[in-house]
Amino acid sequence: TLSNSRNIFWQECPVGKHERQKLLNQKGCVVWITGLSGSGKSTLACSLSRELYSRGKLSYVLDGDNLRHGLNRDLGFKPEDRTENIRRVGEVGKLFAEAGLICIASLISPYRKDRDACRTMLSDPNFIEVFMNMPLELCEERDAKGLYKLARAGKIKGFTGIDDPYEPPVNCEIEIQQTGGFCPTPGAMAGQVVSYLENKG
Ligand code: PPS
Repeated sequence: TLSNSRNIFWQECPVGKHERQKLLNQKGCVVWITGLSGSGKSTLACSLSRELYSRGKLSYVLDGDNLRHGLNRDLGFKPEDRTENIRRVGEVGKLFAEAGLICIASLISPYRKDRDACRTMLSDPNFIEVFMNMPLELCEERDAKGLYKLARAGKIKGFTGIDDPYEPPVNCEIEIQQTGGFCPTPGAMAGQVVSYLENKG
């Protein structure tokens, strides 16, 4: 079929998603981890990938920080750059899911409309949004990269949570939060996501 007016066509491959999924004995999907800088997104992503591996499930982590060294090296942190960042990672995630992998995307992805666009692109059951619901004060206190300090000093402009907004999800599939004032361990966070994935088959 002709997909638009630019004379480009969609090519169908005879080996389909279902065959790949059967081969891998798993279903492709995107686990999208969103939250403030320092909220534990990458920790969860790595722990989840390890946990899935130990269960014989193939996953791959797309980390916002890492992708900005390559695929997204041309993008900064202006709103339109962040939107393009999320769009690209959503598209890559879709390809991974099509390939039959459990794609774990770990990005601040601060704007709800951008995350929702990915959800629409993936179609609902294949997009699992995980909200790292950690208080700003805690992330700032940790400040592992020293970026909050720089942002407070005005040396980084448009830092999420300081002078750029973070819009929390309204209908995420999974929410990770403190219990009794304690942060869950990486294993506990991964366990929460694995349980969800198992329940959904
Ligand atoms: S976004 O908003 O989804 O496009 O961001 P992302 O691609 O996940 O990249 C976030 C990491 O970039 C570093 N960094 C900043 N974060 C937020 N705001 C500003 N202005 C900024 N400048 C640099 C920071 O290390 C983020 O990493 P994490 O892992 O989230 O701490």
